[in-house]
Amino acid sequence: MNLRDYIKIVPDWPKPGIQFKDITPLMDNGDAFRYATDQIVAYAREKEVDLVVGPEARGFIVGCPVAYSLGVGFAPVRKEGKLPRETIKVEYGLEYGKDVLTIHKDAVKPGQRVLITDDLLATGGTIDATIKLVEQLGGVVAGIAFLIELNYLNGRANLDGYDILTIIPYD
Ligand code: PRP
Ligand code: MG
Repeated sequence: MNLRDYIKIVPDWPKPGIQFKDITPLMDNGDAFRYATDQIVAYAREKEVDLVVGPEARGFIVGCPVAYSLGVGFAPVRKEGKLPRETIKVEYGLEYGKDVLTIHKDAVKPGQRVLITDDLLATGGTIDATIKLVEQLGGVVAGIAFLIELNYLNGRANLDGYDILTIIPYD
């Protein structure tokens, strides 16, 4: 199965010059979604992860079926003002904008091996912030998994030293 066939490229969305990678055709096809998820699950098994952490919104879509399949928990990273209990926060820059990400203070236990998931690695800002949140809580980032990587934005350079799985690279 070639998962690239299930990504639709939308020109000039949400802004002129952005070639948006739409993952919804991959998600709404049961075989493709399972095939992608199973690859991340196999990677996570190798890394012996105890917990999956993903940033809203698309990091939830990728991470939750992986956590379910592994039989481990999922902890959400959310934009400011969305989590109801005590949180820590980190500011980050996006491919197009700036924002704050938060996580519940008790979401990650010290020493837990964490898999971070998201749909797409662009500049790496979102995942760099997610790593900071996990590590501030004492978690160990055992691996990071994406469906898509935009090689030309060189987001990997911001995640130096971490183990990364990407399923569909774009040059
Ligand atoms: C998109 C995408 C990644 C991030 C990648 O999320 O889902 O999380 O941008 O960009 P980066 O590597 O430059 O940080 P977005 O913030 O648009 O929100 P969403 O997932 O809620 O749609
Ligand atoms: Mg996102």
